[in-house]
Amino acid sequence: MHNTRMTSRSDPDELPARRPEPVADALRRPLHDLRISLLDQCNFRCPYCMPEAEFHSEYEFLKRQQRLTYDEIIRVAGGASTLGVSKIRLTGGEPLLDKNICQLIERIAALPGVEDLALTTNGMLLAANAEKLAAAGLHRVTVSLDSLDKNIFRGMSGGRGNLDQVLAGIMAAGDAGLGPIKINVVVQKGVNDHTILDLLEYFRGTGTIVRLIEFMDVGNRNGWRMDQVVPSRSSLLQVQKRWPLRAVGKSYPGEVARRYEYVDGAGEIGFISSVTEPFCGDCSRARLSADGMLYTCLFANQGTDLRESLRNGADDNELRDILSSIWLQRADRYSELRSPDIAEHHVLKKVEMYRIGG
Ligand code: GTP
Ligand code: 5AD
Ligand code: SF4
Ligand code: SF4
Repeated sequence: MHNTRMTSRSDPDELPARRPEPVADALRRPLHDLRISLLDQCNFRCPYCMPEAEFHSEYEFLKRQQRLTYDEIIRVAGGASTLGVSKIRLTGGEPLLDKNICQLIERIAALPGVEDLALTTNGMLLAANAEKLAAAGLHRVTVSLDSLDKNIFRGMSGGRGNLDQVLAGIMAAGDAGLGPIKINVVVQKGVNDHTILDLLEYFRGTGTIVRLIEFMDVGNRNGWRMDQVVPSRSSLLQVQKRWPLRAVGKSYPGEVARRYEYVDGAGEIGFISSVTEPFCGDCSRARLSADGMLYTCLFANQGTDLRESLRNGADDNELRDILSSIWLQRADRYSELRSPDIAEHHVLKKVEMYRIGG
């Protein structure tokens, strides 16, 4: 795992280029992760993210010139790395729809200070690309996969996913060394919650880490309702009845998943409980959308337009100052502030998940 680890040395003269002191926000949370959405398009139409009725053939996605160029992305990522970012995740929509992604990965992997470079994908294009991604310098992948029941999987991908192709992608990623592989499962009551154990059984003992995610009220288009959320504590009970688990500590500060391991040694699983047990307290993530907006919360209703600054000639120092002032002012803690009971009623306009990749 490529998590941040600072080494301590006795003689400061021996130190190579010192890691920057991370900038901390108004709630004293350091900036640690940058999540970069490469494009807003996806080859799936998961109803909880991009429902087909809204994202139909007439829907206008971002045009090429509206999206940041690789040079622009590298400037933002480079600036963020001087402020403490050591972990970068590439997301979408579906990032593997970007055919040149390996060129970008090579450049991000070469930035000083980037210790963990991950990618979130739905896995459909993974088998064809895994080796190239690894050769370009990607460290690991996380695959979104909601069920191993063919019909349920297909429904949850909006009728577009092919389960065998995704499983082949996961296998190829393992062979290419893109581990530890994580599987993100969005659990929805009455939709896939009865298929969780089968999915866990399939991955137990393989080194692949499954994470069960509470269905979240992100964006305004997925028709979220509290009665569709399966609280992590019920999923945990369901799993524990079959396989005893023991809790393990965080593998890095700000980790969103609560980690457990199977007592019988078959590996690790995680629970991501944004709705019932929010984890804003040590949230260290900034999110860059494909059109260059920087968001400091997954549930943000506004961001800062970095594309405008970049295209108006901001130099590296100015860019760094902009990033630093955004982070210094940050006080977001959406999930902690809203109670699950009122979330379904409130009408706050929020950024959509497919624009910032989760
Ligand atoms: P690792 O680096 O492997 O620990 O993964 P990650 O923490 O970057 O998680 P990932 O991007 O795979 O996200 C998993 C799920 O957690 C997704 O549904 C995300 O939307 C959700 N999630 C990730 N970050 C946040 C966050 O800051 N706030 C909330 N509320 N949810 C988050
Ligand atoms: N609630 C929880 N997780 C979601 N994701 C997308 N939409 C939602 C939602 N409404 C997950 C995807 C992906 C990750 C980036 O976010 O499954 O794995
Ligand atoms: Fe695409 Fe991921 Fe959204 Fe599904 S959850 S529509 S795979 S971006
Ligand atoms: Fe971070 Fe916002 Fe999620 Fe809280 S709700 S953990 S502040 S992204």
